[in-house]
Amino acid sequence: MPKALDRLLRREQFAFLVRNHAGWDEHLSRVRAFLGEGLRGADPARPVLILGAGSGLEVPWELAPPRTTGWDADPWSRVWTALRHHQWRPWVFEDLTGGLADLEAATRRAVAEPWSGRRRDYRAAAGRLAGLLPSLHPEPSALRAWIAEQQPGTILVANVMGQFGVVAERLVEALFGGPPWVLDPEQRDPLAEALEAWTRRTLTVFLETLRESGADLWLVHDRAVVFSGGRLTLGPWEEAWARQLQAESELEVSDPLAGLEVADLFRGGGKLSHQARWLWPVGPQQRHLVETLAFHPDVVRRTRSV
Ligand SMILES: C[S@@+](CC[C@H](N)C(=O)[O-])C[C@H]1O[C@@H](n2cnc3c(N)ncnc32)[C@H](O)[C@@H]1O
Repeated sequence: MPKALDRLLRREQFAFLVRNHAGWDEHLSRVRAFLGEGLRGADPARPVLILGAGSGLEVPWELAPPRTTGWDADPWSRVWTALRHHQWRPWVFEDLTGGLADLEAATRRAVAEPWSGRRRDYRAAAGRLAGLLPSLHPEPSALRAWIAEQQPGTILVANVMGQFGVVAERLVEALFGGPPWVLDPEQRDPLAEALEAWTRRTLTVFLETLRESGADLWLVHDRAVVFSGGRLTLGPWEEAWARQLQAESELEVSDPLAGLEVADLFRGGGKLSHQARWLWPVGPQQRHLVETLAFHPDVVRRTRSV
């Protein structure tokens, strides 16, 4: 795992834990109930995997069957979980995207001339990285290998997918020594666009890997992040999440899943259940639209992978 990433994830986790948790109760009880249902329904004879296990704030580890493994690249996640839940479970610390080492290498190549080490001008470096990014095709090989070897019956994806793009952005910013993005919203930002496309490729192959696992899947993720104060409510269920957001004033909304509709990747070959969304007031000017969905593959598919 890249050293810069190691530090970055530790810092992000710490920032997450020391945030003011006022207003988080409803989110925490809903997410714990959802993940708890996945753990309760898991076949105790088969391995269970919890991706993005973090410090276990959202994960009811007391319900986890004996053969449950946590997975989180933050080097402190297992210790945080042990302190919170008094359980010392098997753990994997690998990058789930499989693409961050290549992203770091490409960014370093763009930021400084490899032959002299001389730093390039900011704009030139951003243009160079925007040009390099389309050639990167992240492969979650560590996750694939683990699944092939262990054949998990259930996989929980505990609020990690929305982090893939954010972590990639932070990594690029750290290596540039500041945010290299174009700030004027009227102007195109080729680097931001190329990184968004990288995130979309990363999420697509990650979700395909999960589907191919034949495991029952319980996914919770940030569907959108709303940066603005003012009243915001959630309307009745709509397939298109943006139509559910109801506000009096204009909203600044970002899509951490880079335009991907998760449910679209789970049509056919199984049953999609438990689709739900709610608002999570993360901070004074930041509310997340959280989405949950569970997927149960057809029995034929599941027995083939055993
Ligand atoms: C919002 S937190 C999840 C919180 C967690 N579910 C809990 O109950 O505490 C996202 C987690 O994803 C991890 N993460 C982010 N990107 C990752 C990656 N590429 N590979 C593995 N873990 C990653 C972070 O270290 C962090 O712990």
